[in-house]
Amino acid sequence: MSPGAHRRENDRQPAETARRLVLEQHVQLRRMLSMGLVQARQSAAGDGGQEPLRNLVGLIRDLFVQHLADEEALIVPILDDDLPVGPLRVEALREEHERQRSALETLCAWPEEGSDLELAARFETLATTLLGDIAQEERELLTPEVIRDDRAEHGMRHAGSLGRRSP
Ligand SMILES: [Fe+2]
Repeated sequence: MSPGAHRRENDRQPAETARRLVLEQHVQLRRMLSMGLVQARQSAAGDGGQEPLRNLVGLIRDLFVQHLADEEALIVPILDDDLPVGPLRVEALREEHERQRSALETLCAWPEEGSDLELAARFETLATTLLGDIAQEERELLTPEVIRDDRAEHGMRHAGSLGRRSP
């Protein structure tokens, strides 16, 4: 389905609920990424086999990719209603998510015969980038000012008359 097409009213969660659910997932992702970083550093130091890191990378990919889908399902409908800037934010979000998905898939496709040290180093770089992305998303996107209900309600009541607010 194309973004925003044939959307039903009940696809949209209240902004507060959407933000809470996304932020809860971020807590879990941070925990997994931090755990992965510890594992990667142990692997790089030759402490333990590489198998756990490879497993963890796959697990993190699954969790992160699911999060991206959940996040889009929760906040895209809210942003789509927030004209004129919301759809631009959706576009930026989708591009960012595409980049994250492809980086995770690339890492998961690391060949069995590939260097384990190199895998650990690449994971470290990616995990650090993803942690930064999460922090930036929380600062710039997942705020009550950006993810909110009022504009949508306003827009529905006064379609096309942006800028006028209820008293
Ligand atoms: Fe996120």
